[in-house]
Amino acid sequence: MALPALVSLLALSVSAMASYGQDVSVLVAYHSQSGNTEAMAEALAEGARSGGADVAVKRIGEVTQEDLEAADGVALGSPVHMGDASVEVRKALVDWAYELGFWRSRGLMNKACAVFATGGAPSNGKEFTMLSMALGMLQYGMVLVTPYGGLGASATTGIPEHEKGVGEHEIEEARKLGARLVEVARLLKE
Ligand SMILES: Cc1cc2nc3c(=O)[nH]c(=O)nc-3n(C[C@H](O)[C@H](O)[C@H](O)COP(=O)(O)O)c2cc1C
Repeated sequence: MALPALVSLLALSVSAMASYGQDVSVLVAYHSQSGNTEAMAEALAEGARSGGADVAVKRIGEVTQEDLEAADGVALGSPVHMGDASVEVRKALVDWAYELGFWRSRGLMNKACAVFATGGAPSNGKEFTMLSMALGMLQYGMVLVTPYGGLGASATTGIPEHEKGVGEHEIEEARKLGARLVEVARLLKE
């Protein structure tokens, strides 16, 4: 191949790669007091990056209107607090509607969303916590992205065999959900 043609081909591939990396943005928003849900948030973000998205990871109280507007996909995570999502996460779901104006603007409609949770006990609220967050985001007309089976990614953090909190297989589940969130966000954006 002639040198100029090779150079243009390379330039084209580099620009295609650059635009692939920027075509979908994901926001991972979470609440965490002792780091377990944060570990899941980081794993989910890693999975989303591996799917080619630009990813922002934010604590729930730091999420701005601009963060939500810029995101094509939003992953929301919470620890289980008394069998449900934490008050901080529930409050954010309401604040996005009124303080940030998304109820009136319908600005979250058709964005992809996913949920993740950590809970101390094997069966004491993780599914309900994820359902609670999912219902909150479905109110905005968002499209829920699930793993194959189950509502979201979760981890049991308080039993002896999980001394470090979140186990590697649970981290992997979060990574996979992050990648799938990007896949569906990209389809919805097309
Ligand atoms: C106020 C409070 C209430 C909790 N309630 C539950 C509960 O109902 N069910 C459960 O499985 N774990 C419960 N836990 C344990 C946390 O969900 C668990 O430790 C979680 O992994 C903490 O996540 P974090 O490190 O991100 O804060 C509770 C913890 C706190 C602080």
